[in-house]
Amino acid sequence: CGIVGYIGAHDTKEILLNGLEKLEYRGYDSAGMAVMNNQELKRFKVKGRIAALRERVPDIRTATMGIGHTRWATHGMPSEENAHPHTSATGRFTIVHNGVIENYLDLKNEYLPDTELLSKTDTEIIVQLMEKNCDETQSTVEAFRETIRMLKGSYAIGLIDAEDEDTMFVAKNKSPLLIGLGDGFNVIASDSMATLKETDQYLEINDREMVLVTRHAAEIQKLDGSIVEREPFTAQMDVRDTEKGTYPHFMLKEIDEQPFVMRKIIQKYQDENNHLKLDGDIRRAMQTCDRVYIIAAGTSYHAGLVGKQFIEKLSNIPVEVHVASEFSYNMPLLSDRPLFVFISQSGETADSRSVLVQIKEMGHPALTITNVPGSTLSREADYTLNLHAGPEIAVASTKAYTAQMAVLAILAVDTARAKEIALDFDPMQELAIAANAMESLTDQKETFDELVRDNFGTTRNAFFIGRSTDYFVCLEGALKLKEISYIQAEGFAGGELKHGTLALIEEDTPVIALATQENVNDSIRSNVQEVAARGANAMVISMHGLEQDTDAFVIPHVHELLTPLVGVVPMQLLAYYAALHRGCDVDKPRNLAKSVTVE
Ligand code: G6P
Repeated sequence: CGIVGYIGAHDTKEILLNGLEKLEYRGYDSAGMAVMNNQELKRFKVKGRIAALRERVPDIRTATMGIGHTRWATHGMPSEENAHPHTSATGRFTIVHNGVIENYLDLKNEYLPDTELLSKTDTEIIVQLMEKNCDETQSTVEAFRETIRMLKGSYAIGLIDAEDEDTMFVAKNKSPLLIGLGDGFNVIASDSMATLKETDQYLEINDREMVLVTRHAAEIQKLDGSIVEREPFTAQMDVRDTEKGTYPHFMLKEIDEQPFVMRKIIQKYQDENNHLKLDGDIRRAMQTCDRVYIIAAGTSYHAGLVGKQFIEKLSNIPVEVHVASEFSYNMPLLSDRPLFVFISQSGETADSRSVLVQIKEMGHPALTITNVPGSTLSREADYTLNLHAGPEIAVASTKAYTAQMAVLAILAVDTARAKEIALDFDPMQELAIAANAMESLTDQKETFDELVRDNFGTTRNAFFIGRSTDYFVCLEGALKLKEISYIQAEGFAGGELKHGTLALIEEDTPVIALATQENVNDSIRSNVQEVAARGANAMVISMHGLEQDTDAFVIPHVHELLTPLVGVVPMQLLAYYAALHRGCDVDKPRNLAKSVTVE
């Protein structure tokens, strides 16, 4: 979910709606806003997108404070009733919340057994508790503090007291939230992207802090009432980077941006003498660790699988890759000097963050590789490596994935050099070649459009097969296809097919095989024969030098370590066109969100 809030004399309604549009990547199943207008609170909610909310809200230019929310449902199905903002029984307190209140049922049973809740959310309890606590303390600030103290779980909260038009009550724990500072106004937002048009000056809020936001000030307090002084930082983002320009979809724009991102990474990680330029502390951390534990989710996890190969092969350090949400249930036996590497486009994924909190408590060092340097995972780790990919807005990750692999390759080489391991691999030169190869693929989009038209039709499912590194890319290719086109897609190791998956192959089932690795070229082609013999519609995407006449597409030759960066591009384009032809919402697939800030 995403939240935004504004207090000041400008067009509150428009600022909130614009902000919510920018936050829609965080969830888009329902939305709402509440504004104070001439001492009266007005609230609007819809099931659906911000566009629907825009239609619902009347022309109210005189509002001077407001809060808005775009939702990705956790507790309670998407509906108008469950959409935020939620209001207390008397109508006095209204709230937007991102996160999960884990003890909401306990709070309800203990403090408000007789109150009938109006929604099925975990959020509503907060405003109902505000009523009760305010009755007892006769002070909104005290009641807010008391209420926040009672909450267990994650929250970014913006709250309005209809009897106080001059203050917005804000609190944070685990979920992201920033305060934006303006001249005669202030804003709050889950992501500075939402309010960049208003200001580039932001205040961080730490967990378990609350903030009293007025037009002219933002007073940060700890829950014991002590006041915290903090300097703002300047958000480093260009508003234009968050627009799609002439592209029909962000995803297509982001696929096309990949060669440029590669070149940017080369530039950013190189000094004027063309030497690798990495933070010395990161180099030492890599050099001194005896094992790397990569923690990530979704596409970032897939990048981690490839990163393991870079680090093991180039810098000779053993690497384990873990899905963040599973790590704590099956925590591996840790080595003596572990280094945790968190890979996260957004830097906000709650599953990854909870591992970070856990390993920090254990005293282990952490490096975050992220596209958002000021994000939670970046702030809370010891070191950060920036992806320099520019904002990624489409829910399906593309350029962040290739950027993650590029940065991991650079990290591996830098470590190898620090350890004086002789390498026959110049990462910058090879990345430049990969960038050109990517560009030649994005220039041939129509080929993939045709491939989809001719082969995907109305298929229910599709399979991606590969061996070795290609297998990892197949996992990502399948994820891309399923998340945006809703075709059930799976990535399999070529050798595993005969152990079960072959049973799923029917007449004309599309099977995409990736063949970019010389040492497995023959064996993956045998697997292609196996599926073809059972009626599958097999398409081979191979690399120049390994191709055969019948291949569906041949990608340009790149260094064997970097084939995932290029091999994934056809898969991204196949997914894009499959979704497009099926009339799916490419940038905002159903049920998903880009940045999942709940565990
Ligand atoms: C969500 C997104 C995925 C992403 C994953 C991890 O599920 O829809 O595209 O790969 O989160 O996100 P992160 O920001 O940590 O890379």
